Amino acid sequence: MSEQSTSSPYQSSVTLRVNGTPRTLTVDHRATLLDVLREDLGLTGAKKGCDHGQCGACTVLVDGRRANGCLLLAVAQDGSTVTTVEGLAPEGAPLHPLQQAFLDRDALQCGYCTPGQLCSAAGLLAEAAAGHPSYVTDPAAAPAQGPVVLTPEEIRERMSGNLCRCGAYPHIVQAVEDVIR
Ligand code: FES
Ligand code: FES
Repeated sequence: MSEQSTSSPYQSSVTLRVNGTPRTLTVDHRATLLDVLREDLGLTGAKKGCDHGQCGACTVLVDGRRANGCLLLAVAQDGSTVTTVEGLAPEGAPLHPLQQAFLDRDALQCGYCTPGQLCSAAGLLAEAAAGHPSYVTDPAAAPAQGPVVLTPEEIRERMSGNLCRCGAYPHIVQAVEDVIR
């Protein structure tokens, strides 16, 4: 399906900037971003857990913000910038600090959820730095502008969309804390 033109009324050409590289491909209008990343572009880091927007295993960054790839139609992302776990650290470069912290903290067991956890953690760091409040941010304590302080409670809340069936949560929180220190 990829890298070919078609006259099908059910397919369209889209261009996505994926991990820094523009990729133009023809997608079925029903194809999710997750399936296009995995099956057409061979980026199998993002995982399909529930396929229903409930587990976070498919989390990628779309235009810098966290998104569940299983809930997005690829055709609707034309022109978007997508970062998957493969793009967190360029090939041959040192690991992203979050990746290193996850290793250092044993923040994984089976690892199935880990790519989504890493992308989500990268997204939360950016959101907090931009001053975006979460459900647990105290409006009275939060500055009107500026970064939100990432307490363990903030990290847990902001990572709550990512489930880990192995229960590595405490170490995941510690890994994120390591990066913000
Ligand atoms: S696979 Fe997308 S949220 Fe579970
Ligand atoms: S490390 Fe196994 S599901 Fe999270």
